[in-house]
Amino acid sequence: VIDRLATAASVADVRALASRRVPRMVFDFADGAAEDEVTMRANAAAFDRVFLAPRGMVDVTARDLSVTVLGERLAMPVVLGPTGMAGLQHPGGEVAAARAAVAAGTAFTVATPASHAVGDVARAAGRPVWFQLYAWGDRGLTGELVRTARAAGCTTLLLTIDTPVVGRRLRDLRGGMSLPPRITPANARDVALHPFRWARWTAQLRSGPGVQLGNLRGLDAAPADSAVGVAAWLNQLFNPAQSWADVEWLRSEWGGKLAIKGVMHPSDAVRARELGADAVIVSNHGGRQLDGAAPTLDVLPSVADALAGSEVEVLLDGGVRRGTDVLKALALGARACLIGRPWLWGLAAGGERGVTRVLELLREELDLALALVGCPRAADVDAGVLH
Ligand SMILES: Cc1cc2nc3c(=O)[nH]c(=O)nc-3n(C[C@H](O)[C@H](O)[C@H](O)COP(=O)(O)O)c2cc1C
Repeated sequence: VIDRLATAASVADVRALASRRVPRMVFDFADGAAEDEVTMRANAAAFDRVFLAPRGMVDVTARDLSVTVLGERLAMPVVLGPTGMAGLQHPGGEVAAARAAVAAGTAFTVATPASHAVGDVARAAGRPVWFQLYAWGDRGLTGELVRTARAAGCTTLLLTIDTPVVGRRLRDLRGGMSLPPRITPANARDVALHPFRWARWTAQLRSGPGVQLGNLRGLDAAPADSAVGVAAWLNQLFNPAQSWADVEWLRSEWGGKLAIKGVMHPSDAVRARELGADAVIVSNHGGRQLDGAAPTLDVLPSVADALAGSEVEVLLDGGVRRGTDVLKALALGARACLIGRPWLWGLAAGGERGVTRVLELLREELDLALALVGCPRAADVDAGVLH
């Protein structure tokens, strides 16, 4: 695996390694999206429809990939976004991924449904991490999570607004994904075809956080340790009555940086600005929520426009797989990108080393793209690089 990681020449190569390393249902849990996965594919395809206009005879000897995001200097404009239960991909989970992020000089986001608790991730990272929240109906619980994030030294909270209810992810429904994992008619064929893969994975699951949700253990309302109980409990926390009043409330509870994640309409961007958000993240949850939602790269210019002249920073996620994707997002108004699946694939393919490889590939590709487009500093990229 170590050699294969070293020779993986793209994020797609790392994805292929991941698909051979973990059971199909675990790979699909990360790889899949809602319904027909139209939005997920469109996120990636949108980058292929944008073309660059390279300039010649520019001295590009000294390239600088660094940017400042929410007051933090990042070595590259790629942040690891929040994803639930990374511990299913590898026992190192968020701890391993956060170490890789810090080594690459960038930020890591701990999701509320992370496998490892935010305090453990922050300690391992040795650099402040970001924390993601949902606007759950139980503000007592959300308030406890905010206090936990503060105690862990988090600098930035992300409030995800695109999940009033959970999208229908057909690969999970068809593939026998359950917590705790069980062998069912839906996944029996995969078990039979790949017994060693399953044996290794179940052993790994026992050596890591397993199916635990580190941030939610021990909270008053959480059911005691049955994983089935925890998963069902988690799903009923999503709040169909969420509203901008929840943003107002969170803004009053949290003095640190606040990013609103899941903004797909310029009016929502304006609303976030009015309520004191420091950033908006153009995101459709990687296509895992509303299938048919527009690709994020197509939405980005209208959101950036709506916030032009304000201090609110614009970030983007969804389908970022190449250094040139990052370059295109910066050119269309983003200050940085987040990645979801790519770091999970790295984790599945090789733990911390796999995540490091993904970040290395994106860094190398972006460095190359900046040189070839004739704009050596990431912070200087603007629409001038576009065709
Ligand atoms: C397995 C998985 C779990 C996720 N869990 C969360 C979550 O708990 N909270 C959240 O805000 N976003 C979550 N996301 C969405 C990501 O933060 C991000 O928006 C998306 O993955 C970006 O698209 P990409 O995977 O194409 O890079 C999850 C994504 C995946 C793939």
